[in-house]
Amino acid sequence: MSNEKIITTGDGSHSILSPVYGEQYHSTFGAIQESMHIFIKAGFKKAAEHKKRLNILEMGTGTGLNLILTFKHQNDATINYTGIEAFPPSGETLKRLNYPEKLQLREDILLKIYRDNSGNLNKSFKYNILISTLQEADLPQNLFDVVYFDAFSPEIQPELWGREIFQKISDSMVSGGILTTYSSKGIVKRALKASGFDVEKLPGPPGKREFLRAVKL
Ligand SMILES: C[S@@+](CC[C@H](N)C(=O)[O-])C[C@H]1O[C@@H](n2cnc3c(N)ncnc32)[C@H](O)[C@@H]1O
Repeated sequence: MSNEKIITTGDGSHSILSPVYGEQYHSTFGAIQESMHIFIKAGFKKAAEHKKRLNILEMGTGTGLNLILTFKHQNDATINYTGIEAFPPSGETLKRLNYPEKLQLREDILLKIYRDNSGNLNKSFKYNILISTLQEADLPQNLFDVVYFDAFSPEIQPELWGREIFQKISDSMVSGGILTTYSSKGIVKRALKASGFDVEKLPGPPGKREFLRAVKL
């Protein structure tokens, strides 16, 4: 029996409380609402204004919510989605999450994604989840157009929010590529700038004043 605790957030969508890190995977104000605001609208949709074939990287795929939201909002884009996740949620937890119901997707979609680890959700949406830490993952150079940076907070995982990690991510991105993240902390902004990004603060979703969008120079 998994000791991951499922909680219901303000918009009625679920999130997980991590037994290892003691932190929630999403905002208590609304998991779907937060993901839509920070990753889908400010990241994916923004990039899709100019480019229809997109390579997307997600750091911390967790429940798979950002992956299935991207799929749901794919429209006419062709997507190649890479997720990195060191500690996938248990099958038992994935089965109970209410995202498929909320997003009107097939009910076993999250289980399928983690069971197969790679495949197609349709003919123009390919995914591959690397079960690895970001530190150990071998990333391609100069490939990603969009990065969803969704680690636990800098207070909990300071090792993931510094210059070394952002340089690794930056090297894996194309020039003009967009990274979004929910943290707007000064140390994060400075580490991103030092790793070759132009960084802006944008108004956050309910419950969060600001978040960061960074464009690789
Ligand atoms: C804030 S949660 C991500 C939430 C996820 N995007 C979602 O929508 O469910 C952070 C995720 O990063 C994963 N993680 C923690 N340390 C990691 C590391 N060093 N490398 C890769 N993944 C890591 C955790 O297991 C967790 O799933």
